[in-house]
This record gives sequence, C-alpha cells and structure tokens, in this order.
Amino acid sequence: MDNSDPITKHYNKYPYPDVTRWNAQGPDIVNKFDKMVPPDPGFNDMDVLIAGCGTIQGFLAAYHNPQNRFVLCDVSESSMAYTKALIEQYGVENVTYEIKPIEELEYENFFDLVVSTGVVHHCKDVPTVLNKIWDMTQEGGIFKGMVYFDGEAREGQSKLNKFFLDQEYDVYDVRKYFTKNPNSLWDRHDHSEAEIADNWLNPRFREYTEASWLDQLDATEWERQLRDIVILEDRKLYFICEKNPDRRKAKTFQWGNLGANE
Ligand SMILES: C[S@@+](CC[C@H](N)C(=O)[O-])C[C@H]1O[C@@H](n2cnc3c(N)ncnc32)[C@H](O)[C@@H]1O
Repeated sequence: MDNSDPITKHYNKYPYPDVTRWNAQGPDIVNKFDKMVPPDPGFNDMDVLIAGCGTIQGFLAAYHNPQNRFVLCDVSESSMAYTKALIEQYGVENVTYEIKPIEELEYENFFDLVVSTGVVHHCKDVPTVLNKIWDMTQEGGIFKGMVYFDGEAREGQSKLNKFFLDQEYDVYDVRKYFTKNPNSLWDRHDHSEAEIADNWLNPRFREYTEASWLDQLDATEWERQLRDIVILEDRKLYFICEKNPDRRKAKTFQWGNLGANE
C-alpha cells in the first residue's frame, strides 16, 4: 500500500472521527447510531462494504446489524486500530478488515450494500473508485454515500482550507487563526483535533453540485443508476444508487428513504 499518499498520511495522523472525545462525552458510544445502515426489516444475510470506515462507522454498522456481514475498509491504520479496539471491546464477530485503498480491494459482484460517506471526494481518481465500487456491488445492490456539496457554506471553508495548507498550518495554528478571526463556519464545527484537521487541513478534496455529481456518476458505470439525492446544511450531498435493480436475484429488501447520519 502507498503510505506516502497525502490522504493516507493525513488520516493516519488525524484519525476521524475522534473516538476518545465521543467516549468522554457519553452517552455510551454505541448510541452514536449511524442511520446509513439502519436495522431495516429485511436487512438480513447481507454482505456490506463500509468503504473508508474511519474510526467508528464500521463498528457501529456491524454492532447494530449482527445478522449481516461487514467488510471494513480504510487506508488509515490508526483509524482501523480504533475500530478494532471497539470491535473487541463489544465482542462483535461479523467483520473482516481491509487496511488498503478501496481501489485495491478484491471482490467481484459481491456486496448487497456499499456505504461510503466522506471518502470518495478525497480519492485521487474519483471515476476509478466509483467503477471499482460498481464492480464489487451485486446486481440489484445499493451504493449509499456522501460527498462534499459545492454550496456557499463549503466555498468559504474550502478557500480557507487551501490557505491554511499553503501556509503549512497545523491544528494549533488553525485554532489561533479563528481566535483572532471569528467566523461562523468555524462556530458550526466541533473543535476537536480530528474535526479541525478534517474540515480545515484536508490535503485533497473535491466538491459537487447536484448536477456535477450526476455528471460524475454518469461518466462511470453508475450511469442512470441514481435513485435519490439529499443536501444537508448546504455542505453535504447524500445519494443512493441502485445497480440494475431489474437484475436483482433472490434477495429482496426495502431501503426506504435516504437516511443521512445527522
Ligand atoms: C472523513 S473520514 C470518514 C470516515 C467515515 N466514513 C465516517 O463517515 O465517519 C474519510 C475516511 O476515508 C478514508 N479513505 C480516504 N481515501 C480512501 C481510499 N481510497 N480507500 C479507503 N479509505 C480511504 C480515510 O482514511 C478516512 O478514514
């Protein structure tokens, strides 16, 4: 695996989200329920990929859905160490770990559901990742995800992100900057180290409008497979795609609406 990729380095240094802070805040971490993988009636005996699971999302998904099997993938070894610790702590058994880029996974027409929130827009080559997810998804399978939305709120954020990177700022410098320069964008985020790094020091990201995300999907195997889009807080674009629903085999399930996790 290429550990020199700036995104791998970034998330090894700043695992996301900050588990220790959540634990300290209580209630129990398992209540940070992730609605992207709900315990849906009919969500049984499924193979699920959490692509770019970070520190906690994969654990939560597997913990709340013991009747399904989960592959948890992330490039960040330190993020996965948090996930592994939680999985051991809670005795979760339905997981396989893959510490490597999504692009290097070896599954073919395998997953009933792929979840990838806050990941695809950080990848070096977005169409390659989207096509890889297509190849790994079964006919009739679902791909749910979130990418940055190119709205007014994100515009200010991404300009500052670029400025901070150019200035070679660290988390401490970013905090100092906002103490001197109050900003509503800063106020709306949590100020843990992981959140500051994720929001203000990200080395690679893209942003999409509804139209440009649709264009991006249409430039891949996911052409005309989009089922729903929801924009949250003018910053995040959640989507659901379904791979050739008419070719779905025996398993049937209802996915309801797009469940965004906040
Ligand atoms: C912003 S975090 C989101 C974590 C999690 N999905 C969530 O919503 O809490 C992005 C995660 O994607 C991982 N990541 C980025 N590019 C990746 C890739 N090509 N393959 C696998 N993981 C990747 C990062 O290491 C990081 O843990």
